[in-house]
Amino acid sequence: TASIRSFFGRPIIIGGGIAGLMTALHLAPEPVLVLSRALLGAEASSSSAQGGLAACFGEDDDPTLHLADTLAAGDGLCDTDMASRILQAAPGAIEELARFGVCFDRTPKGSLCLGLEAAHSQRRIVHAHGDGSGREVMRALVAAVRSSPSIVVVEGVEARRLAVRENAIRGVWASCSLGPVFFGSRRVILATGGIGGLFLDTTNPPGSCGQGLALAARAGAVLADLEFIQFHPTALESPERPMTLVSEAVRGEGATLIDETGRRFLDGVPGAELAPRDVVARAVWSHLAGGHQVFLDARKRPGPEFVRHFPTIAAACRGLGIDPVHDPIPIHPAQHYHMGGVAVDGFGRTSVKGLWACGEAASTGLHGANRLASNSLTEAVVCARWVAESVAGTPSRRTKPVFAGDYPSPDPIPVRAFVSRALGIVRNGDDLKAAARALLPLAESENAASDPAAVALMIAICALRRRESRGAHYREDFPRHAAVARRSEITLDAALAAA
Ligand code: SIN
Repeated sequence: TASIRSFFGRPIIIGGGIAGLMTALHLAPEPVLVLSRALLGAEASSSSAQGGLAACFGEDDDPTLHLADTLAAGDGLCDTDMASRILQAAPGAIEELARFGVCFDRTPKGSLCLGLEAAHSQRRIVHAHGDGSGREVMRALVAAVRSSPSIVVVEGVEARRLAVRENAIRGVWASCSLGPVFFGSRRVILATGGIGGLFLDTTNPPGSCGQGLALAARAGAVLADLEFIQFHPTALESPERPMTLVSEAVRGEGATLIDETGRRFLDGVPGAELAPRDVVARAVWSHLAGGHQVFLDARKRPGPEFVRHFPTIAAACRGLGIDPVHDPIPIHPAQHYHMGGVAVDGFGRTSVKGLWACGEAASTGLHGANRLASNSLTEAVVCARWVAESVAGTPSRRTKPVFAGDYPSPDPIPVRAFVSRALGIVRNGDDLKAAARALLPLAESENAASDPAAVALMIAICALRRRESRGAHYREDFPRHAAVARRSEITLDAALAAA
């Protein structure tokens, strides 16, 4: 207890992925505490990111082109000012990562190698070890954090509730192997990642089940755009969960989508394999629903170059007896990313005083209704600096422990079937209402299902209220755009009242 008390008053970062670690590094030399559920790097979805980070380094590229691609993919719902700020700062953030020791892939002359992904008009994906970008960024950041004397990392600790008084943060109730523990602080940063663990088919680690959203929602925070969930069209078909991603960069290097007859079924779609991710995911979904099998055909392009460009994917394929140079790769769409999250302003501040959010857990407005590939790590790295500056500029006093109970460890298993059925690639009002009815008692319970169910319920209510199709949110009962594009907001109280 004495040693925990010595941490009282430090800013607390919940989450040890790229967003959390970059925020901690930018806060240095201000002392900061990072709470991580697992060993740093072991469970963060950042580690499995393949494609890389989008930023303008190409000769013909420019942040205004990157912005235009982002807005087009976002289908009318991006916050243009925020997107413009983030994308202009992207090249500087990549250089910052290089200074922290990230070894990006470079040409023999030393310039950054740039990959192409869907819906980008230019080659602008900065990567490392071919398809090992997230792993390399995490390696460098974990090393930098471990050697920073101002950063204390507490591993094996799971944040369960935020202590709040008069809409202001007072600390974090957490759980560790010794039992419940309280960390007092008036400044808390949520960097907890996504919600894939709520789905049966996901590329996210199973522990990513929206804990940051649940913490924020139970603290009374406003959440935004929760109905926008991105499905990646090409996860490797296998019984393994989480599913292995087959990066969009493979299509960027010329691979095509075919069915069991060898037909290239995206031929008629504008942009074909490089159309925005929501378009390709829906096309794959409907081809599968029509009784076909779907494969990624990389035999001609990238062909023999596959293993050099994509060593991680090649190894995963070989583990299933598939040689991507000679065999089509069986694929299936999987939940991959959450565009929505805790609503934040340009400094990462939420509607609760003393609470910030960064990375996938936050909703900055960059992604709109459908995230442009490889904009997510870029967003996390850029915004981490702004969050750190805002946290450092917020005066704080010590805080005393406040009473709270012991909370169960969240278990998403009881909600996965409802979520996967109602909140998948194609949705309808009847399934959404049925899911909301089933989720309500779970969300109101005091058991392990309650936090995942509360997050799923808020998403279902937002999806029900959005009576249109836009970006990644497709309603078969409302297949068109509404006349006006509006972002959505919700609180947990509003979702409980609406259900
Ligand atoms: C991919 O490599 O296809 C994923 C990149 C991303 O999700 O942005």
